[in-house]
Amino acid sequence: MDRRNNPYAPGAGLQPPELAGRDRLLDEATIDMDRVLGSRPTKGMMLLGLRGVGKTVLINRLHGMAEDKGFRTAKVEAPEGGMLPQLLAPELRQVLYQLDIKTGTGQLVRRASSVLRNFVSAFMVKIGEIELGIERANGIADTGNLEQDLPDLMVAVCEAAKERHVALGIFLDEVQYLSSEELASLIVACHEVAQRNLPMFFVGAGLPQIAALAGNAKSYAKRLFTYPVVGPLETVAARAALVNPARNESVDFEDDAVEEILRVTDRYPYFIQEWGFHVWNSAPASPIRRMDVEQTTPGVIAHLDANFFRVRFDRLTPLQQKYLRAMAELGAGPYQTGEIAATLGVEATSVATVRQQLINKGMVWSQRHGETAFTVPLFDEFMKRQMPKLEIHEPKRRSPRGRAKSAK
Ligand SMILES: Nc1ncnc2c1ncn2[C@@H]1O[C@H](COP(=O)(O)OP(=O)(O)OP(=O)(O)O)[C@@H](O)[C@H]1O
Ligand SMILES: [Mg+2]
Repeated sequence: MDRRNNPYAPGAGLQPPELAGRDRLLDEATIDMDRVLGSRPTKGMMLLGLRGVGKTVLINRLHGMAEDKGFRTAKVEAPEGGMLPQLLAPELRQVLYQLDIKTGTGQLVRRASSVLRNFVSAFMVKIGEIELGIERANGIADTGNLEQDLPDLMVAVCEAAKERHVALGIFLDEVQYLSSEELASLIVACHEVAQRNLPMFFVGAGLPQIAALAGNAKSYAKRLFTYPVVGPLETVAARAALVNPARNESVDFEDDAVEEILRVTDRYPYFIQEWGFHVWNSAPASPIRRMDVEQTTPGVIAHLDANFFRVRFDRLTPLQQKYLRAMAELGAGPYQTGEIAATLGVEATSVATVRQQLINKGMVWSQRHGETAFTVPLFDEFMKRQMPKLEIHEPKRRSPRGRAKSAK
């Protein structure tokens, strides 16, 4: 098919040609936003999902919807290692600037700007000169303790928004990368804002472990947010994601070609885009047949291995790689943590640190105690291709003097 008209959009955060299977979630969010605009109590949303299910795409869509509804918004993606103050402060400054621009500075906008100024110097954030609110606000958002200062700041910004009869929307992607202090501060801030019934809608997204992380940080986080699960698409939606973009270009799929793509992708949105994209390029004519898919699949897998999977693999230490390889040995998962250790030939305690490192890197997660699973769909199959042979782990033994010595 003509590459120029290829409609598929494989890639992190790329808006798909058909945002399939998310209507209910978008409807819920629409209602939530309208409730916020109507000054009614509304829970924030934490979108939970594995890699490539479409969380960023949803955050972007919700962000767009909020802007259309007149929300003033801040959108941030947490990098590994956190840095929330550095990321959020410039966004909130922009919000205050917009609040200020039309009607001249209101009292609460000026106050929020002073609070932001304190916050910026308490956390040594570099965002250039803060033009608004040159004077400092005394004793607010200036302790250097994020759990105290972030709520002060967010409350002040929401009060300023309220003064201007608008609402604030906060969109935060990759929540799992926040430090525990940052996550706790954010939850406290949302709680403070909710208790004062200030106009704010919060949407976070991240790997599924963020539900437990939030609950551990503050027990009331369970009641403060809803936690919609963003998963692989239902069959009907997966079909639509694949077939409709082609149909718009007057290209059809034979049914068993669709079946085959749904099978190899496990209905994960990112993989559907990749298969759609590559099959489109290689199929000679419409309708696209099962044979076209089968001939293209090895090339797609090689492409995913070299790009999508490999970049994650390369960030791991040899021991972390071995750990994931042992997981793959046990099938698609989730796995009993003890069984992974047994597959590696060691006690669970001797690889507990490795497992924790893999959680911190966002490679694995734990739905319940004693369980471990991949955060990247189909990673088990990649690990077997990448490391065909399972190696057992021989931990270094401590010598009597306490020095590490390799075990024979
Ligand atoms: N509902 C959907 N229907 C069809 N394709 C989708 C859908 N949602 C996302 N996609 C596609 O899936 C891919 C991944 O989307 P996105 O980057 O939003 O995932 P993610 O969950 O944020 O992944 P990560 O955890 O790696 O950041 C993109 O190519 C996007 O176009
Ligand atoms: Mg994303």
